[in-house]
Amino acid sequence: PKIVIAIDGYSSCGKSTTAKAVAARMGYGYIDTGAMYRAVSLFFTQERVALSNHREVTAALDKIHITFNHNARTGKNETCLNGLNVEEEIRKMYISNIVSEVSAIPEVRWAMVAQQQKMGRKRGVVMDGRDIGTKVFPDAEVKVFMTAETYIRAKRRQQELLEKGELVNLEDIIHNLEKRDKIDTTRAESPLVQAPDATLLDTSHMTIEEQVDWVIEQADR
Ligand code: C5P
Repeated sequence: PKIVIAIDGYSSCGKSTTAKAVAARMGYGYIDTGAMYRAVSLFFTQERVALSNHREVTAALDKIHITFNHNARTGKNETCLNGLNVEEEIRKMYISNIVSEVSAIPEVRWAMVAQQQKMGRKRGVVMDGRDIGTKVFPDAEVKVFMTAETYIRAKRRQQELLEKGELVNLEDIIHNLEKRDKIDTTRAESPLVQAPDATLLDTSHMTIEEQVDWVIEQADR
């Protein structure tokens, strides 16, 4: 039977890498909800939307259309903002530096959650984010809550950025991770919290393969 696998947790714990691999092995769809908040942040930056102005925010949200495209040539998933591939841009540090502020805006969350629920309705999906098991799919069959030591998360993120050609100080990354976690866990609208029925997974000393096997084992139960 096709099910929803919700993978939530702190930034840079290996959620998306794991979720992607689990989806591939199970023949499921994969939805990166963080990419959606990143795409919204990019649009708001481009359009110079004042985050505190609710009318501006709502009007801008009406102009945003986010889709995921599987590029057959590269074999990679691309996040598209109004039809344009923004995958590379949304991973940059300047987006990471504002995304939590953007994702804390209730109107932004309402719009994204509604879209995510629609995307997951055809079932058989792995979705990663911060509020999947608590808000988007509270009745998901499998719920995983990921965590890892800050230093290890920062090293992983630094390596990822480096592979994409962006050299960032470890201190700046640690500062960004801690700041995002703080905003994500303390915002009013569906804050980041472990769902009571989610299983905790500390990935600090696990390989990606081990993480993938572990999640699939949960799904097989
Ligand atoms: O997963 P990723 O690090 O790309 O997410 C970027 C940011 O998007 C998070 O720090 C968080 O502020 C926001 N987010 C969220 N809810 C989700 C997914 C991401 O608030 N379901």
